[in-house]
Amino acid sequence: MAALTRVIPRLLSYNYSLPKRNGISAKPYFIYLTSIHQLRCKLLQINLFHTSLPLLKEVVEGGLGGDPYRRQVVLGIETSCDDTGAAVVADSGEVLGEALHNQQSVHLRHGGIIPPVAQRLHEQNIEQVVNEALEKAGMTVRDLDAIAATVKPGLSLSLSVGTRYGKNLAVSGKKPFIPIHHMEAHALTVRMVHKAEFPFLVLLASGGHSLLVIAHSLDHWSIIGQTIDDAPGEALDQGARRLKLRNIPECASMSGGQAIEYLATGGNPRAYEFPTPMGKYKDCTFSFSGLKHTLTRLIERLEEEYEVEGGNIIPPIQDVCASFQYAVTKHLVRQTQRAMVYLDVRDLLPSQNKTLVVSGGVACNQYIRAALQKLCDTTGYQLLCPPPKLCTDNGIMIAWNGMERWLAKAGVLHDEEDIAAVDFQASSRVAATTGRVCMIWFSQEGNQASSEAGKISSRSTAYRAQKMNDTNCE
Ligand code: KG4
Ligand code: ZN
Repeated sequence: MAALTRVIPRLLSYNYSLPKRNGISAKPYFIYLTSIHQLRCKLLQINLFHTSLPLLKEVVEGGLGGDPYRRQVVLGIETSCDDTGAAVVADSGEVLGEALHNQQSVHLRHGGIIPPVAQRLHEQNIEQVVNEALEKAGMTVRDLDAIAATVKPGLSLSLSVGTRYGKNLAVSGKKPFIPIHHMEAHALTVRMVHKAEFPFLVLLASGGHSLLVIAHSLDHWSIIGQTIDDAPGEALDQGARRLKLRNIPECASMSGGQAIEYLATGGNPRAYEFPTPMGKYKDCTFSFSGLKHTLTRLIERLEEEYEVEGGNIIPPIQDVCASFQYAVTKHLVRQTQRAMVYLDVRDLLPSQNKTLVVSGGVACNQYIRAALQKLCDTTGYQLLCPPPKLCTDNGIMIAWNGMERWLAKAGVLHDEEDIAAVDFQASSRVAATTGRVCMIWFSQEGNQASSEAGKISSRSTAYRAQKMNDTNCE
């Protein structure tokens, strides 16, 4: 609100009559356009679009094509892994049209994602998905202000499809192109629906990533922790496969994480013990492969004990799922708390407005959300998560990230040659076990922050570890 009270007098002081289009002289018209753009950005920042300020809403959204008040519209395209997604999003955060083709059923049959199969499915579906999103929005490419597509990180064969399609559409339609970082999109999605002002702490947990990041601004991110092996979603997916959860009819079409959450609901989270990952290291690094291997050994033991063979399920399936979910949750919460300690000690977030944003497919999990909520209640953070539908991969998050960059004029390519030169980037690092992709968008500072986080956390471990004790996970 404070930002609004600063902006409005400044805007009014320009002294032009507001929606008067004809007869506006060149100079005030220019100032007027600039100011409208600034106001729009400012309103976006302070998330006032959903308020009941009709006049401002009209100023920002009103008017039709060619009108200076016309709302801005971006198309987003996502093909970084196994979902072909597209969406048209307005600067208000309104989703005008969206479409998603999910490849999950095919990959479930193969027992995992096979990149050439994913690529073929993206190629078969991308045109239809993009057209469907545009049709639902009642638009054609001509009506768009810009086109955004995920160019990194992800599976290179998958990324290549969306990158190429988005670039071609931008060049043929003479529209600006905005290359998108998939994890940045996950981190910013929340700003469509909640007021999350920079800087904030982000936990990104998905099938390919496990990251703790400080979001300083649209162009400044510091990674303070990431996985050294698997991502949590990957561990859950592989665990579910080993538990043969697909053979349980209710779970047949669920992702591994979803199936484990579903079965864990009726189980005892303390039934089986799992080791604490990274127990000796006092930093924010994640590791899920140890948990995965402990689960495999546990399943082998139980299969022998209950004489379970073939596609049959071990009887204590609910307790096993609940215990594994508990172990994954505890690790996520523990490392997130370390990150909070680091931020506190370095005074990196405003003390009156400390925010933890959680996103990525694993953030759909209500048990994990509840545990993180408890952590936030203890540490004075507000927890913000996008709705579950926006946590897993989709075109909306790419369109929204494109919109944020479009409004901020950051990373927008107008020149045909610049657009043609954009290439997709799988990753700077690949997880050892499955080839799924780990992190990117480092800065020197991020690396330094990561090692510093270790030192600071280790100094304050005693008091933190006590607070951490299982209370935050149940
Ligand atoms: O973000 P996402 O759609 O794709 C990647 O960028 O990886 O995340 C997919 C991951 C899968 O591993 C899936 O098992 C996990 O998110 N997931 C869940 C839940 N729903 C999806 N994990 C735990 N609980 C859930 N409810
Ligand atoms: Zn993702």
